[in-house]
Amino acid sequence: MASMASFALFLLFHLHMVTAALGVQPVITAASMVSRAPPPPASLLSHSFYRRTCPDAEGIIHRKVQAWINKDFTLAAALIRLHFHDCAVRGCDASILLNYRRSERRALASKTLRGFRVIDDIKAELERKCPRTVSCSDILTAAARDATILAGGPFWEVPFGRKDGRITIAAEAERVPQGRENVTALIDYFRHLGLDVLDLVALSGAHTIGRAACHTFNDRLYNFNRTRKPDPNLKPPFLNLLRRQCKKDMDLVFLDATTPKMFDTAYFKNLQKKLGLLTTDQALQSDERTSSFVDLMANQPFLFESQFSASMVKLGNVGVLVRKNEGEIRVNCNFINRRRK
Ligand code: HEM
Ligand SMILES: *[C@@H]1O[C@H](CO)[C@@H](O)[C@H](O)[C@H]1NC(C)=O
Ligand SMILES: *[C@@H]1O[C@H](CO)[C@@H](O)[C@H](O)[C@H]1NC(C)=O
Repeated sequence: MASMASFALFLLFHLHMVTAALGVQPVITAASMVSRAPPPPASLLSHSFYRRTCPDAEGIIHRKVQAWINKDFTLAAALIRLHFHDCAVRGCDASILLNYRRSERRALASKTLRGFRVIDDIKAELERKCPRTVSCSDILTAAARDATILAGGPFWEVPFGRKDGRITIAAEAERVPQGRENVTALIDYFRHLGLDVLDLVALSGAHTIGRAACHTFNDRLYNFNRTRKPDPNLKPPFLNLLRRQCKKDMDLVFLDATTPKMFDTAYFKNLQKKLGLLTTDQALQSDERTSSFVDLMANQPFLFESQFSASMVKLGNVGVLVRKNEGEIRVNCNFINRRRK
């Protein structure tokens, strides 16, 4: 049974990898061919996008990310999460970087996002080398990939050509999952991004590094589901450990309790041992729609790495702005460009 399931998944992720690499949708219906539907935006992204206009763009981004992470390892997790929060709202358009009153970045849900200075630093360097050429959304996408590698995770090719959006609304950022949702809400949220249940489980694997503030899971320690008791799913030793680590709401706890700085499958193994930190993490293991994927990822590191890569490519393709009259190449990632006469 298990081998059947893993074989099916093997085929599934190859389909994902292939379609992700080609940037096409797996199913082209007769109807869409007859009506000559425009190609999906993500198919207009390309691996060689900056080859002539800024050939060293990826190298510049990589060296900067490396230098920052060497100084402060926690930035690896921060950059991966920042990319997720960008793509989850209005697609990967760098709308999370805009710094205005009531922008996504100023939302309550964005309060603990970090890594903005890294992106600003990369952007400044790229503006010196290739002015007005490389978008903030492409920078953030590549930086998240590089951060993954530097944390010991897999490599994948990032297709480029995203442009930056001009719209950012705080209220939209508040709808990004916060850690207390049920699995139905998570699946629905990912579906509205064009991501499926397998993507949800694989991408949640990003919680193999990084930390969460205690207020994001405090209810599990004292008053779960308004029962005034801890989450029955938390075993006493883990419960006591977390209570000791959480003196204040903003204290930070590792999302992966066993190997917090290594990009590995320990996150999934932890879920099997009921050592998941967030309600949403542990829920992936108890819900029958996601638990078999959790088990597969826990036991097959290669599968997790391949699927994480494929799902990150999909995440990076969400809602991208690529056509002539949409979006812009921002000069400063914090602000939209002034309209030119
Ligand atoms: C499935 C839905 C998800 C939920 C409910 C969720 C929730 C959270 C929460 C509550 C935190 C802690 C934030 C804080 O302390 O304020 C966090 C951190 C983090 N999340 Fe997620 N997340 C989800 C999906 C993702 C995805 C798809 C990625 C990336 C692919 C990701 C990457 C991260 C990383 C790397 C951190 C650690 C950040 C750091 O240490 O600075 N998360 N997440
Ligand atoms: C899941 O959460 C949604 C709201 O986020 C709620 O409407 C729904 O009833 C919940 N489902 C279950 C099974 O608890
Ligand atoms: C929370 O409480 C409600 C009502 O008491 C119950 O139906 C639900 O199953 C509980 N949820 C969890 C995750 O324990």
